[in-house]
Amino acid sequence: MPPLAPAAHPPSPARRYAITTFGCQMNKADSERMAGILEAMGYRHEEDELAADLVIYNTCSIRDNAEQKVYSYLGRQVQRKRHNPHLTLVVAGCVAQQEGESLLRRVPELDLVMGPQHANRLGSLLEQVESGQQVVATAEHHILEDLAKPRRESTVTAWVNVIYGCNERCTYCVVPATRGREQSRTPQAIRSEIEALARQGYREITLLGQNIDAYGRDLPGITPSGRRRHTLTDLLHFVHDVEGIARIRFATSHPRYFTERLIAACAELPKVCEHFHIPFQSGDDQVLRHMARGYTVSRYRRIIRTVRQYMPEAAVSADAIVGSPGETEAQFQNTMALVEEIGFDQLNTAAYSPRPNTPAATRADQVSEAVKVDRLRRLNACAERCIRHRNQRYARRVVEVLTEGRNPKDPQQLMGRTRSNRLVFLPAAGHGLGDLVPVRIEAVRPFSLSGCSLSEPQEQRLLSGQR
Ligand code: SAH
Ligand code: SF4
Ligand code: F3S
Repeated sequence: MPPLAPAAHPPSPARRYAITTFGCQMNKADSERMAGILEAMGYRHEEDELAADLVIYNTCSIRDNAEQKVYSYLGRQVQRKRHNPHLTLVVAGCVAQQEGESLLRRVPELDLVMGPQHANRLGSLLEQVESGQQVVATAEHHILEDLAKPRRESTVTAWVNVIYGCNERCTYCVVPATRGREQSRTPQAIRSEIEALARQGYREITLLGQNIDAYGRDLPGITPSGRRRHTLTDLLHFVHDVEGIARIRFATSHPRYFTERLIAACAELPKVCEHFHIPFQSGDDQVLRHMARGYTVSRYRRIIRTVRQYMPEAAVSADAIVGSPGETEAQFQNTMALVEEIGFDQLNTAAYSPRPNTPAATRADQVSEAVKVDRLRRLNACAERCIRHRNQRYARRVVEVLTEGRNPKDPQQLMGRTRSNRLVFLPAAGHGLGDLVPVRIEAVRPFSLSGCSLSEPQEQRLLSGQR
């Protein structure tokens, strides 16, 4: 068995590490855990990756351009390594998992190639590197409970992994191959992590999973009524009363598994924020079938309708792909129509990118790059119009903001988020980080709001009466 804990003896005089993270929140959370392991080993954090002794690229391969980025970054490090043989170069994350050994052939200067399931093993993998080996860690692996304390970016909000991997088989997607089978953490392990976060002063947690609605389906247990004992809904109830935590979020939701029971729990549990990220990918049933998403557009509409019945103020965001294989102009128009109809608060859009070893990539009816670019431009314009319109509902309203940090462009201001996940700027005077502040919105922009804080008791009462 490899040792679980990082090396007990610190490396000689504080080596400095830098981690550059690409991709989704899952990768960001993995990077924070890897940074925690390195600091426990005695490494010091270095902002400048060109000055560090150990460089980790935590990579993403969701689209080809994300993957290519890492090769250009690596090029500069390979140059450095020619003059500095003690430089340790690590590629972690989804490109590492996807490419494995072949990454070593392409970049022989690498010391360690490690897939996402091995993030918690960084300490023992580096020990192998120090003994002179070039290491590839991409075997399917049971993810160990974290022993190292993550080095978190924020002191107010924190990510908490609840399920790793993905068992879906969306035909365009590389994630099941890079992140492996679903592995749920136990409710007790999740709750203990949240309690520890609360003790450190964290106010908000985001429960993370690629398909968070799958939480618990790999854990044993059936209730007397024949239902799975461990679901996301049960987990929300189980962690809700941790004292000190004011807000709970979760991502990413899959329309196939998004239940009314979950929606009702979100409405009932006051700490669960009214923001739902539910990617629809396409507004056309045939395209959804080709994607093997397992739901129809009308089911998606029904979910959003139910969310809004329970929580009229809920914000909804989503992801959509244009130009997937065989997508016709009429099918693309169905996506545009759905975006107009739903009124999203935020939309991530992407042109379909063929990925290695995925069924969609082998189809003969690929859409040309020119058509993809054109559809992406049109969808973005449509989404921006809708989002602008939707943002107007915040004008002059009083919202509850959790202050998360200083505005990097103006130290006189704090920034924070509404429960609906809108970024808000407010004057810093009189407030610290981690405060819940009632703010009257004075300016509405496409990606942010700003306003002034209200302290009159009457306004406070108005605010708490909103839910
Ligand atoms: N698990 C989430 C999202 C995972 S990846 C879900 O099921 O929705 C994040 C987003 O990247 C996806 O929602 C999708 O919109 C986009 N994406 C994934 N594969 C892609 C590909 N091959 N080309 C373009 N976009 C892709
Ligand atoms: Fe990819 Fe589908 Fe899994 Fe999301 S649910 S990570 S899109 S395979
Ligand atoms: Fe990218 Fe891997 Fe996340 S491919 S989007 S980093 S799961």
